[in-house]
Amino acid sequence: MNQPDSGPAPVLALTDISKSFGAVRALQDVSLHLYPGEAHALAGENGAGKSTLIKTLAGVHRPDAGQVLLDGEPVVFNGPADARDAGIAVIYQEPTLFPDLSIAENIFMGRQPRTSLGRIDRRAVHGATAALMTRLGVDLDPERLARGLSIADQQIVEIAKALSFDARVLIMDEPTAALTGSETARLFSVVRTLREGGAAVLFISHRLEEIFELCQRVTTLRDGRWVASELLGGLTEDDLVRRMVGRDLDELYPKQATTVGGTALSVRRLTREGVFRDVSFEVREGEIVALAGLVGAGRSEVVQAVFGVDKADAGEVHVGGERLRAGSPTAAMAAGVALVPEDRRQRGLVMEASIERNIGLTGLDRLGSGGLVRRALERGRATDWAVKLQLKYNRLSDAVGVLSGGNQQKVVLAKWLATDPAVLIVDEPTRGIDVGTKAEVHRLLSSLAAEGLAVLMVSSDLPEVLGMADRVLVMHEGRLVAELPRAEATEETVMAAATGRLAGEGAAA
Ligand SMILES: Nc1ncnc2c1ncn2[C@@H]1O[C@H](COP(=O)(O)OP(=O)(O)OP(=O)(O)O)[C@@H](O)[C@H]1O
Ligand SMILES: [Mg+2]
Repeated sequence: MNQPDSGPAPVLALTDISKSFGAVRALQDVSLHLYPGEAHALAGENGAGKSTLIKTLAGVHRPDAGQVLLDGEPVVFNGPADARDAGIAVIYQEPTLFPDLSIAENIFMGRQPRTSLGRIDRRAVHGATAALMTRLGVDLDPERLARGLSIADQQIVEIAKALSFDARVLIMDEPTAALTGSETARLFSVVRTLREGGAAVLFISHRLEEIFELCQRVTTLRDGRWVASELLGGLTEDDLVRRMVGRDLDELYPKQATTVGGTALSVRRLTREGVFRDVSFEVREGEIVALAGLVGAGRSEVVQAVFGVDKADAGEVHVGGERLRAGSPTAAMAAGVALVPEDRRQRGLVMEASIERNIGLTGLDRLGSGGLVRRALERGRATDWAVKLQLKYNRLSDAVGVLSGGNQQKVVLAKWLATDPAVLIVDEPTRGIDVGTKAEVHRLLSSLAAEGLAVLMVSSDLPEVLGMADRVLVMHEGRLVAELPRAEATEETVMAAATGRLAGEGAAA
């Protein structure tokens, strides 16, 4: 295994780790070495075993076989507290702060400095937190409640917590999935500072450019097995994809030319006070329209109002020429509209229910009511979609909650595609989905559009927007500020509009 000949010994190492969940072999003989002062990426497709590996390092899972070595000595972590005491800090994709405690209390939970009288020394806690924030170069009030912090700020708090107990190893599982470009830049600069201070970093992301930007070394997993550990210096993105997928990738943005038909969705002067105003646009049959903009521009809010999850204060939505009843997702679904939401945990899935149940949930009526027949149909349909989306699962009767993050996202997509909609609204359709499957999802959207489906796509992934959309609508601070046909949509034009530099020009009617 390509290790440095000289230089520091690994802080933390895994040797020949195996872990199974029932019949699923999540990890098989995986080894990994983390060096001080080095950021190490963990790459692999959805379900490859990345999160499982991290949970093994974090003391959440006990490996079935293999060893964890800390400074060369075997250790056994019986729980997350053991790993933390060993100087290992883990930042999960969904932050784990207590919403009703302040930032300072979250950071020093259970180990607050005390006064000579034995009371919690609030001033010391405040001061120590402020010092951590200064060290990280961020401006967050220690007294502020965790509730309401952006995901990016919550992650900064998690990192401050890691700093506060002098973590020597910082592990991050898809920390950037929900961040904007500038938030990611800030996170990376914080991580760089820690790394330069000698910490070892383990980083997971499906965005390859981030891996190349932040990390020096990469370990790739495929189907729970170790494929390679190597320096990133000599590698290209294609090399990395080949390690992950085991083959060359097909064309990345498989956009098909389509014949655009009549208007499928028409949104007229839609307004929600204080959120978005006077938003008007159309999506025609066979068209893929992207709604671009910065996080917070109001894109998700618009599509939720279109679908009726939120009620607009003014304006109309027409589908296939008929006006939709406002604020009624049931009416929208009956008219053939489907919305794949951004947040799969909150709106997309029932985690305890089975995969086939989740896929079947939205189309129950159409499958008829006979128990056995329905179950058979449900299973048949779920299998079809599982194949189309390359879902990695053990049994269709397994709970969705045991699937890997990216595979849960695929189930949300399957569930809505299975309703056979006329208008498909997707909010961040490929967030958390690996490169290979991403191309597959794009191919699917493209071919559905070619068959006449109208697609409205909210995406923060600019290459995805530019690669897939026939037209790009750009929002800035609650307003539609630009409408760019495919030929005119470039990174520069879209970003200029999204940051308000184009406001007033080319605004959609
Ligand atoms: N608690 C569990 N019970 C059963 N199976 C599990 C459990 N946790 C993970 N698995 C399975 O182990 C395999 C690896 O999952 P893991 O979450 O490690 O993948 P991952 O590489 O993090 O993928 P992603 O990129 O989608 O997050 C998957 O097949 C998953 O379904
Ligand atoms: Mg994962």
